[in-house]
Amino acid sequence: MKQKLIGPFTQLLPMTGIAVKGAVTDEELVVIKNGGIIVKNNTIVAVGPYKDLLKQIDIKNTLLEEVKGDSVCLPGFIDSHTHICFGGTRANDYAMRNAGKTYLEISKAGGGIWDTVTQTRKASILELEEGITKRANKHLKNGVTTIEVKSGYGLSVYEELKMLRAIKNVDNKIKADLISTCLAAHMHPKDYNGTASEYLKEISISLFPLLKEERLTTRIDAFIEEGAFTAEVIAPYFKKAKEMGFTITVHADQFSTGGSKVAVDYDAVSADHLEASTDEEIKILAKSDVISTALPGASIGLGCAFTPARKLLDAGGAVAIASDHNPGSAPMGDLLTQASILGTFQKLSNAEVLSGITFRAAAALSLKDRGALNNGFMADFIAFPTSNYKEILYLQGQLKPSYVWKKGTKIDF
Ligand code: NIG
Ligand code: FE
Repeated sequence: MKQKLIGPFTQLLPMTGIAVKGAVTDEELVVIKNGGIIVKNNTIVAVGPYKDLLKQIDIKNTLLEEVKGDSVCLPGFIDSHTHICFGGTRANDYAMRNAGKTYLEISKAGGGIWDTVTQTRKASILELEEGITKRANKHLKNGVTTIEVKSGYGLSVYEELKMLRAIKNVDNKIKADLISTCLAAHMHPKDYNGTASEYLKEISISLFPLLKEERLTTRIDAFIEEGAFTAEVIAPYFKKAKEMGFTITVHADQFSTGGSKVAVDYDAVSADHLEASTDEEIKILAKSDVISTALPGASIGLGCAFTPARKLLDAGGAVAIASDHNPGSAPMGDLLTQASILGTFQKLSNAEVLSGITFRAAAALSLKDRGALNNGFMADFIAFPTSNYKEILYLQGQLKPSYVWKKGTKIDF
């Protein structure tokens, strides 16, 4: 494949030179004026001022892919936490919640996570694949080139396999990359004849080996919460997962604390939610290598507090921002809008928000080949129709990318 020189971009933000942890000011952002990118075989070969790159290439062996008009180029966004594999809708839950009904009342009326489990179990694998494809392609159009997708609405060996196979099948078909996670520990299944510990034991004995065999995922997640799984109950499950070489990630401190400590104790790659985290949790997370993932879509969907991202960053923590797109707590699914809104409520700089949806989100998925425009990285990047990168968050998700490149190829929508 011939190499390509893509550009010029009015501003090119490679998102390099910033630490994974801690606060960042906009002055620390590298902004290359009239920048360009050389791509070969899906990979970035060089990034720099377009004129310099033009001088350095062998023109006979290089295709010039010209970008006309004003544009700001960024790494493709990464959504490190979603639940976009599901059946049905929870519009009734949303209406009931907004009418003041409690979690218990909604659950008694047949709503909550279990409702989505029932609807997901009814769906065929093809129907699940259609839903994932539709949602992932919408994300890609909005500049999200890598998307994490969890299971967790199957809650039996058979149904969790169905979900994870659907995610893998779609990943093989679409242009965005899907990173799957097993969330069989989402809630104790209502129809399981046994204790929570017995359920988790069955999953670890019967499902974990199949996940390895079919290469369905390398990541295990659990919802640590009073109404889901406690730190004590999850201990043998996470221990087994770690022994088998899985990476751990945790739904932590959403309504009550406890989860972030579990995440630190088990060297989780990320602790996600953290809306209920207090100064104590913030301290232990910031001291650790666990990425703290804010999920503003869930705060907006539930009408709850935002993750204390400002405090986490000031304490020296690493903050990624993800959509949590799911039918219950986060139905909107628009990462850029949500990240912008989190920025306004938590007083985050452009640099902090953009880091949270690029290289810090890559770190939350243990991905070392994307999230920044570096030589040798995957050629995933996007261009917004503006001459000033600050317009992107200012317009709160309404400014959409004009172009998306995945592995160096511009996508036709
Ligand atoms: O991340 N907190 C638990 N799980 C999901 C919500 C899932 C649902 O309500 O269907 C979340 O917000
Ligand atoms: Fe979630």
